[in-house]
Amino acid sequence: MAKNTSSFFCKSCGASAAKWVGKCPACGEWNTYVEEVVHKEKIAFKSSWKSENQQHIVPVQLKEVNQTNEQRLVIEDQELSRVLGGGLVPGSVILVGGEPGIGKSTLLLQLALRFHNKKVLYVSGEESETQIKMRADRITNSGSDCYLFTETSTQKIGKALQQLQPDLLIVDSIQTLQSELIDSGPGSISQIKETAGDLIRFAKETGTPVFLIGHITKDGSIAGPKLLEHMVDTVLQFEGDRHHVYRILRSIKNRFGSTNEIGIYEMQMGGLREVSNPSEILITQRDENLSGISVSASLEGMRSLLIETQALVSAAVYGTPQRNSNGYDSKRLNMLLAVLEKKCGLRMGMQDVFVNIAGGIRVEDPAIDLGVVAAIVSSYENQLVDQQICFIGEVGLSGEIRAVNRIEQRIGEAEKLGFKTVYLSKFNKLPKTNFSINVVEVGKIEELLSYLFG
Ligand code: TYD
Ligand code: MG
Repeated sequence: MAKNTSSFFCKSCGASAAKWVGKCPACGEWNTYVEEVVHKEKIAFKSSWKSENQQHIVPVQLKEVNQTNEQRLVIEDQELSRVLGGGLVPGSVILVGGEPGIGKSTLLLQLALRFHNKKVLYVSGEESETQIKMRADRITNSGSDCYLFTETSTQKIGKALQQLQPDLLIVDSIQTLQSELIDSGPGSISQIKETAGDLIRFAKETGTPVFLIGHITKDGSIAGPKLLEHMVDTVLQFEGDRHHVYRILRSIKNRFGSTNEIGIYEMQMGGLREVSNPSEILITQRDENLSGISVSASLEGMRSLLIETQALVSAAVYGTPQRNSNGYDSKRLNMLLAVLEKKCGLRMGMQDVFVNIAGGIRVEDPAIDLGVVAAIVSSYENQLVDQQICFIGEVGLSGEIRAVNRIEQRIGEAEKLGFKTVYLSKFNKLPKTNFSINVVEVGKIEELLSYLFG
């Protein structure tokens, strides 16, 4: 007879304790312990699929480790492939997190449907078979061998895995899975730990890659214990503004590649389309020059992107002026406004200021500061910034324009898209190569304004 005991788990780090404690001794968070019932007796999930292979129990010398067996599986989706570090490593476990409705299920179903000549098992605890079929009909299918299983019990999933022996497993989502060994509900800490542990063991022992979809909490981190992110090999974040069509796939952790890569997609009627030349689409097409618009060369991961910033500055009618920014850090915006007030004598304290990055993407690269300043002053003065100018530079607290990394790549992108002039920091060490684009070096924000607006 199974013995039921209850344990207390920390919601933040997954540590357990026999009694409730106010402060977690493991991670130091307050008030995070919750009680969950656990079956002590273990019925092995893995007994259903475990191979009879002898385990290595002798340590191996590093130089004797054979590297050639690390053959990555080719996936058709170039963006995903690059983010993963060039294909899919056998036996790797990849957690994909993101806001509801952002397209996680679409991304992975698309992967499943386009995995050539391979058997894929798509386990869903969220949607019915008909719902998944309806989604699959919207996506162009290249005839892969995709099986659906709408189930939440890991024991049953284990049996299905043993029968089918797929080449790829996709689980939508880890928070809906439930192990019969644990009494607490799906999504609880002990369930997530147990079910993820089972799937990871399956991946490692059979060499099957596993994708797990994870829900995220209100503050944007993946729901469940932080431990989950430590357990898996790769954590990907799918983000973007739900009201816009562009989505960015970022890697937060990757044991098999760099975390600098991003993938860009466009959500269309027929699923997600890979965007291979992002700069062209992020700059909105305009016929005439308008004030309050500027273009900056930013870097997202290893790729350069041209970003269009729009600003609106208008006299504040109600007491405290409003500051609002979309896609750009609002604290940084306040800093830039203070610098403009102090160094250039612009009376920003009396103005409402709105800043928007076109395309609904978020930019954290400080190199777009210069472009943001140009857009703000352009709107304030109601004077145009020439459409042919691209800005690159970080703005410091005393109004100095600071150098940024990988300047060549940024200039190259502006050149490629037909810009005539680029403004950048005079502290950037430019390589000797001759650019066909006109380079203007500026040291201070006052200089920039006198160049642009006289
Ligand atoms: P979904 O993948 O279900 O998001 P998640 O699993 O992250 O919650 O779908 C996201 C949205 O994408 C959904 O609201 C409808 C939309 N969508 C399209 O615009 N085109 C398509 O081809 C598909 C499949 C979905
Ligand atoms: Mg979904």
